[in-house]
Amino acid sequence: MQRCIDPSCGARFELNQRIYVCSRCGGLLDVVQESATDPEQLPALWTRRLASFETRNQSGVWRYRELLPFADDAPIVSLAEGNTPIYDAPVSAAYCGLHALTLKHQGCNPTGSFKDTGMTAAITQALILGVQTVVCASTGNTAASLAAYAARAKLQCAILVPRGQISNAKLAQSLDCGAAVLELDGNFDDAMRVIRELAEEESIYLVNSINPFRIEGQKTVAAELLHQRGWRVPDHVVVPGGNLGNSTAFGKGFAELKNLGLIDHLPRLSVVQAEGAAPFARLFESEGRLSPAAGPTAGTAGVSPASRSQHSTSDWNAWPALTPMEHPHTLATAIKIGAPVSWQKALRAVLASGGTVLSVSEQEMADAKAIIGREGVGCEPASASTVAGIKRLVADGVIAPNEDVVAVLTGHVLKDTDYAIKYHQENLLSDGDATEMTEGHKLAGTYRNPPTLVQATKAAILEGLRRHPRVNDTL
Ligand code: F0G
Repeated sequence: MQRCIDPSCGARFELNQRIYVCSRCGGLLDVVQESATDPEQLPALWTRRLASFETRNQSGVWRYRELLPFADDAPIVSLAEGNTPIYDAPVSAAYCGLHALTLKHQGCNPTGSFKDTGMTAAITQALILGVQTVVCASTGNTAASLAAYAARAKLQCAILVPRGQISNAKLAQSLDCGAAVLELDGNFDDAMRVIRELAEEESIYLVNSINPFRIEGQKTVAAELLHQRGWRVPDHVVVPGGNLGNSTAFGKGFAELKNLGLIDHLPRLSVVQAEGAAPFARLFESEGRLSPAAGPTAGTAGVSPASRSQHSTSDWNAWPALTPMEHPHTLATAIKIGAPVSWQKALRAVLASGGTVLSVSEQEMADAKAIIGREGVGCEPASASTVAGIKRLVADGVIAPNEDVVAVLTGHVLKDTDYAIKYHQENLLSDGDATEMTEGHKLAGTYRNPPTLVQATKAAILEGLRRHPRVNDTL
């Protein structure tokens, strides 16, 4: 069933009811279900499926289908999503002041972002409901993902994007897949507002992360991550925050695995936003909700519990409402969002796990992205907020150097090549609307690696090589 998250309401709805929020009180909805399989059997069953070529088993989402609210004969729309790698990241770890750091690279999904793990579930549900048209508002990645899955399902699809504010790569993907690309003069929050009105039409199905089936698909990443780690729970999982669907999904995934008894405690889930688009981080700050101190292994001083908010972890619904930011700005266009739709669910998840929420500057994000590149991994700008945030949390004593930390990278490095080229040429302006003349806005290319022009002679090229430092010698 679908259930209103507000404990004072708790209204229930059938799974096949096409609603996005509670029709009684307007609250967000959770999908709740019981697994028919004995939980103890699940890890071995999921491992066996890794050796199977059946489409459902090849998907890193549907492999974990006991966690999903779909019948066995559901008309699955899959592009073999999930199955994303975890990388040991020594360069990033040293940069953050950690002994070790793991990167879970969700950018290695079919359309290059984590959205695919939710979209496969939402488009499958669209087929079950028999809708004709699927729509979303997007900063680019949801759009590219929806365009691909709608094409696979042969559904009409429209995406609403803020004109000039999404990367070319994401726009190109949506165009290629045949989506109706509707550009709007306004920002993502404007697009989100309009698309919610549009979704009142009977034949139209909204697949932004307010749609609880998106969250269901995305939550399986928690299972995949722990499966890859032999069910060892990390101390911290850190994700970027925009519309706050991803943090919601990780929180739900971990909580359900704990309820099933597959893990005995939750990792601390922390969310990092860009300073200019940080309504959730501001809410945390305004509540005096400072980060909890590092775990029992921590050697450095943390923040004392007394300085934290008076709210207990369970009373997320007693918190004041999030105040939207009217003019969000960040070069990480993926997370340029001022009114995140799922903030209450994300708040619930962060509080339940003892995590925190913070924001990082454009410079911190840009440098962290370059470091992740030096790792040989790379990611899009929004994803780098995680490593920047972890560096801060280590410096503040919230994460201890010897703790086990996972940073979730949400998008592929090729999603925004303009940004990378500008950074390396020291031409990245911290305010996307500034002109090249406003020097004050220019970000430092701390770890820059600009191209050099050489003459077409062997000697010139050897000289060029001699001058170029070996990778990571300059860190
Ligand atoms: N990272 C990337 C690369 C994203 O594209 C997004 C969101 C986020 C992080 C934030 O995730 O919204 O679940 O908190 N992109 C959406 C989109 C908004 O339209 O593609 P979130």
